[in-house]
Amino acid sequence: MKQKRLHRSVNFDTDVDTLLPTLFSASEQAQKFLEHVKKSGGKVKLVLELGGEDDVCMTMEASPELASMARELKLQFRTGLIADGYNIRKVDFSKIHGVAGNDLNKLADALELTDGANVLDLMCGYGAVSSHILGYAKDNGKSVRLSMCDLHKVQLDRIPDDVRSSVEDVTVSDARNLPYLDGKFDAVVIKMGLHEVPQIDQPLIFQQVFRVLKPGGRFVIWEVMPDTGEQQDAFTEQMQKKNELAGYESIVVDRYFTRGEQMPWLFEEGGFVDVRQVFEANFHQSTLGRLDSELGGDRTKLDALNAFVRRCTPQSIRPSVDYKDEGDSISMKVPNRIFRAKKPE
Ligand SMILES: C[S@@+](CC[C@H](N)C(=O)[O-])C[C@H]1O[C@@H](n2cnc3c(N)ncnc32)[C@H](O)[C@@H]1O
Repeated sequence: MKQKRLHRSVNFDTDVDTLLPTLFSASEQAQKFLEHVKKSGGKVKLVLELGGEDDVCMTMEASPELASMARELKLQFRTGLIADGYNIRKVDFSKIHGVAGNDLNKLADALELTDGANVLDLMCGYGAVSSHILGYAKDNGKSVRLSMCDLHKVQLDRIPDDVRSSVEDVTVSDARNLPYLDGKFDAVVIKMGLHEVPQIDQPLIFQQVFRVLKPGGRFVIWEVMPDTGEQQDAFTEQMQKKNELAGYESIVVDRYFTRGEQMPWLFEEGGFVDVRQVFEANFHQSTLGRLDSELGGDRTKLDALNAFVRRCTPQSIRPSVDYKDEGDSISMKVPNRIFRAKKPE
């Protein structure tokens, strides 16, 4: 899917209490307009007023010349206010991502680390993958220059001191708009991150990773990837309900879990070659497993989640996901896969 929207993170990582982090995105037409605004030395003000005489008032203020150009291009200014998720979500991913024994070694193997390699742990959270890569490189007698990047400072603040002091940089940035130079990295890894951005934006991440990789560089993705559309719907709906009950609005609205068959296509559309699945395990989803970590120990929420899952998981897919209803806990398994691809030499 080719879409050329521009994304800019605005005011992230700010220390000014009155400014809120937000994301700005512009269509291709709007980018032309912004380019013209820049060249002409003009200014455009996008104003969103809440709590005024009209309940919500949105306007675009510009010089007559710019206003008529915006009209000709039929531009609109749209916005949405939603509660964020990762600014409050503090969970131990190792307990919910179905990471077992040597699974993280498979991820590290796929990076094909060479001595002194530049590696990016993208959508890194509190750095479990980085921590593993550092240990893996040391065990193999190699050094790596690791960069860590995540959109949410709250997650980066959870990085243990020993990891933070061993990496090159820790950067707050959106994966759709990376701040790194072209061709900087030998390898980029994303574990359980791709599904955090909407389907329409996922190709942007592939484009950005392609840009920041060196020729021959490796891109490794670990994701939960349902096998069929029915599995995808049932799993997504269950996650949405859990996230809604947990109070994470952006995570409910944005997420898209890519099916296994879609993944090679995303890599290829992004220009990658030698796309292969290097590992498959299972993501174990258990409703009871989320009680303390995400539902605040509230049993009424667990009951609501269980009732929803019973209603929304079609009988036809239950055998394929090993669906088990034990009253308090409903569990299912969805494939967890690692894919690796390369930027052409
Ligand atoms: C499920 S966690 C995975 C963290 C880590 N990769 C791991 O497996 O331990 C997803 C992470 O993606 C980050 N994230 C969400 N949207 C993002 C975006 N647009 N750009 C960069 N990071 C994002 C979240 O803040 C969160 O830390």
